[in-house]
Amino acid sequence: LVHRVVTIDGPAGAGKSTVARLLAERLGWRFLDTGAMYRVVTLAALRGEVALDDPEALDRLAARLEAAFPPGRALLGGEDVSQAIRDVAVTRASRFIADCAAVRARLVAWQRAFADAADVVTEGRDQGTVVFPDAARKFFVTASEVERARRRHRELQAKGSDTTFEAVLADQQARDARDASRAIAPMKPADDAETVDTTGLTIDQVVDLLHRKVLPSP
Ligand code: C5P
Repeated sequence: LVHRVVTIDGPAGAGKSTVARLLAERLGWRFLDTGAMYRVVTLAALRGEVALDDPEALDRLAARLEAAFPPGRALLGGEDVSQAIRDVAVTRASRFIADCAAVRARLVAWQRAFADAADVVTEGRDQGTVVFPDAARKFFVTASEVERARRRHRELQAKGSDTTFEAVLADQQARDARDASRAIAPMKPADDAETVDTTGLTIDQVVDLLHRKVLPSP
């Protein structure tokens, strides 16, 4: 690898993307939210009424997708879809995209291209295991199931959603179970990843902790 890469993998709702974005800002590196890529393909499939269980159709869709990911945002054909990709319907349907080997291969190539161009903090499920096995530093960021569901529930409430905590928890459990057991690129810590449990920590505390580990003071 020409550029430096820090990978942050872990289950849903662990705060990975906020932490990765802030860590990238501190380091002056680029931030890559790979979940947003899977979500953009999912949104495009739902909008285009592409059959989610048809891998060839999904691959054709991914091949002609015009997406861009400026820091913290997602664009589809020039439209800002940063909010739309967080919809519950998109979150639920994203598993079909995550299971599609051909689409994964495209997104992995895309992710590696980011790291060819700049130092990156990248966040997802398979970044340390599959996409960047040679990354300088790998973290598996997690938190207790209940705390993660609480955080996500609060976020959804703040956006005016009336989803219950129980529904958020059930969705999260189903998604984690699928992500951990999928045949290709399952979610798991890389052998050389350090697991960081963020239960009870604030975002700032987590960013500080990772920052110290990435750049130990002399
Ligand atoms: O992280 P986020 O919740 O945005 O990811 C949405 C879904 O995309 C995940 O549940 C997972 O199935 C898929 N994903 C993946 N590999 C990644 C990132 C996300 O399979 N590197």
